[in-house]
Amino acid sequence: MSIEAKSPQARIESLLACMTVEEKVGQLGMFADMVRPFAPDVNPDANVRNAAEVLEQVRAGRVGALFNGVGAALGREIQRVAVEESRLGIPVLLAADVIHGMRTVFPIPLGEAASFEPDLARRTARATAIEATAAGLHWTFAPAVDVARDQRWGRGAEGAGEDVFLGCAFAAARVRGFQGDDLRAHDSLLATPKHFAAYGAVAAGMDYNYVEISDGTLRDVHLAPFKAAFDAGALTVMTAFNDINGVPASANRMLLTDVLRGQWRFPGLVVSDYTADMELVAHGYAADDRDATLRAFSAGMDMSMQSGFYAAHLPALVASGEVPMAALDEAVRRVLWVKEAIGLLDDPYRSLDPVREADASLPAAHEALAREAAQRSIVLLRNEGELLPLRRDARIALVGPFARDRDNIEGCWTLFGDKSRYVTLEAGLRAALADGAALEVVDGCALEAPLAGGIEAAVAAARGADVVLLAVGEPQRYSGEAQSRTRIVLPPAQQALAEAVAATGTPVVVLLRNGRALALEGAVRDAPAILVTWFLGSQTGHAVADVVFGGCSPSGRLPVSFPHDSGQQPLFYNHPRTGRPETPEMSEFKARWREYPNAALYPFGHGLGYGRIEYGATRVDAAELAWDGRLVVRAQVSNTGARAAEEVVQLYLHDRVGSRVRPVRELKGFHKIALQPGQTREVAFELDRGLLAFTRADGSHDAEPGLFDVWIAPSSAAGEPAQFRLLAPPHQPA
Ligand code: BGC
Repeated sequence: MSIEAKSPQARIESLLACMTVEEKVGQLGMFADMVRPFAPDVNPDANVRNAAEVLEQVRAGRVGALFNGVGAALGREIQRVAVEESRLGIPVLLAADVIHGMRTVFPIPLGEAASFEPDLARRTARATAIEATAAGLHWTFAPAVDVARDQRWGRGAEGAGEDVFLGCAFAAARVRGFQGDDLRAHDSLLATPKHFAAYGAVAAGMDYNYVEISDGTLRDVHLAPFKAAFDAGALTVMTAFNDINGVPASANRMLLTDVLRGQWRFPGLVVSDYTADMELVAHGYAADDRDATLRAFSAGMDMSMQSGFYAAHLPALVASGEVPMAALDEAVRRVLWVKEAIGLLDDPYRSLDPVREADASLPAAHEALAREAAQRSIVLLRNEGELLPLRRDARIALVGPFARDRDNIEGCWTLFGDKSRYVTLEAGLRAALADGAALEVVDGCALEAPLAGGIEAAVAAARGADVVLLAVGEPQRYSGEAQSRTRIVLPPAQQALAEAVAATGTPVVVLLRNGRALALEGAVRDAPAILVTWFLGSQTGHAVADVVFGGCSPSGRLPVSFPHDSGQQPLFYNHPRTGRPETPEMSEFKARWREYPNAALYPFGHGLGYGRIEYGATRVDAAELAWDGRLVVRAQVSNTGARAAEEVVQLYLHDRVGSRVRPVRELKGFHKIALQPGQTREVAFELDRGLLAFTRADGSHDAEPGLFDVWIAPSSAAGEPAQFRLLAPPHQPA
């Protein structure tokens, strides 16, 4: 019987039966794609090989996957060597970091989470997959599902912010978007939730730092989005660089085997982060390279990225019996199973079609979506005196180092974006104005330094204008990997520019560019209108213009809390209750800072539109929720303003008494609704016990009977709660 005619399992077993140990180990190795290399500096140099060496390894059957190269034609050549010149003809998986867009760039994931529209993320991930598979890729290292509660950490830009409920919704949506409905389709892109796990919990927000964490927080906050991603169909997962309570995640048997395989029955492939097995030595968790290999593999890491450690040491470890052959076979089976699942064993040249790659209509078709995603990710923090939207015939000065900038549009981890299609702020605003020539544009300063005469020119422009659009924020390279900050503020040169412009008295609208929540200061904090614009991607200028001139009402909400001051970090809304909370009546001997309030300046969930939104009281349909019952919570939401708007109606819960201290509030639902002027809508959420569950003191996961507060509110800091009681389970007869 031919291999093709067999069942997938039989096919994998017959391949396995023919493989030497070296060939098996080969399937567990992933290396930089030097045959189709790209921007070289996203990772440190390690185990560097040239294109000929890589192809030679492919020919020898020593490569399971290559990463971070693109191109269909050369991809076919790699695959031809694998299929026609290697002994067993097993195709190679071609992977890359395609995080928030390929040629067309969508908002950074944090920004897109501000849309509170998981389906938008599904659609942008789908578009990304279409472009990435056309460029010769099978597999992306996304989505990042790390929950980021400390804004000093730069990689919060890659995830969905500080909240676990929102994070789960976006994790699942992104997986669905990348993979599509049919894994074997040529435009399905394998998703990889990362970084498993608790990478966002690194101490002091410093990338790669240690993690000390309770089991409850690990499970309820940091593991939950991974589970959501697997439930949505993710077949691979990437380990994290950090240790967790002293055990590096990349050699953590509890995580990679007990939780992943044991509790969650994850059938897929565990891949290391870049050289994470090698780093076990630097962690001081492994004595040497061989020991690192043994520890990583034994813990449950199937595939090693870039270090070459598996190739170098696994054969000897198998020979000595330290690694059982059965364990090696199991890891190889998972790699082959993923290749089989995406149809690569049947069609090694899937997603390697130069004609499709050259089809310019693919990215062009995604421009409208990029604009929509960018519009919907923008958050209006403040709009004193309804300064926004602006009239299209206003005299506008666009001031700031991002005004004409093209190099800080895409945000971190955009390796393959088509820069020629990026729309700058200047271009987008000019295109939207009645008289495009009337826009005066002044840089005012460089990103991190003053410019000679810059402030003077900016002040003159401000004086001659009705309104200033002040484009300030973080340079793009301040967020992303290895970009940790102690002070999450604007560079001093930009702050000085803001102060000078504000002093003219011309009203200022801040267009903030940022990859994290920032501690706004002085004239930026006090500007009458502030739009958070993150890094919005290809259509930045058009999307900002759409919002500024009222083509659409801003509908984003903060997925991270904006603090008063950097020193408040980690500041997140759903923190556990303290025994000495600050109260309005008393602040001595209370949990508080001397200099700043406890609260956020702009809390999680906050954001305005151009309507005027009012909430009626939160009402529960019943005062009690039976253990297996359901309860409906409702509120009326009205737009009493003169303009149409969209509102993100948020459901929060609080468990009054728990066997572990419970968070002050937790997001448990949200609906984005459109409201015409004068319109009122009733919004309802259905609750069941599952939403109240947490990791209890005894380690079990369920709810606890008792009293709960529930809010339907416009943010994590707003509203008055209603109450209900979760009843104990009915007595079960023995
Ligand atoms: C990052 C990963 C990324 C990998 C491959 C690492 O440094 O932590 O997120 O997928 O490099 O480029």
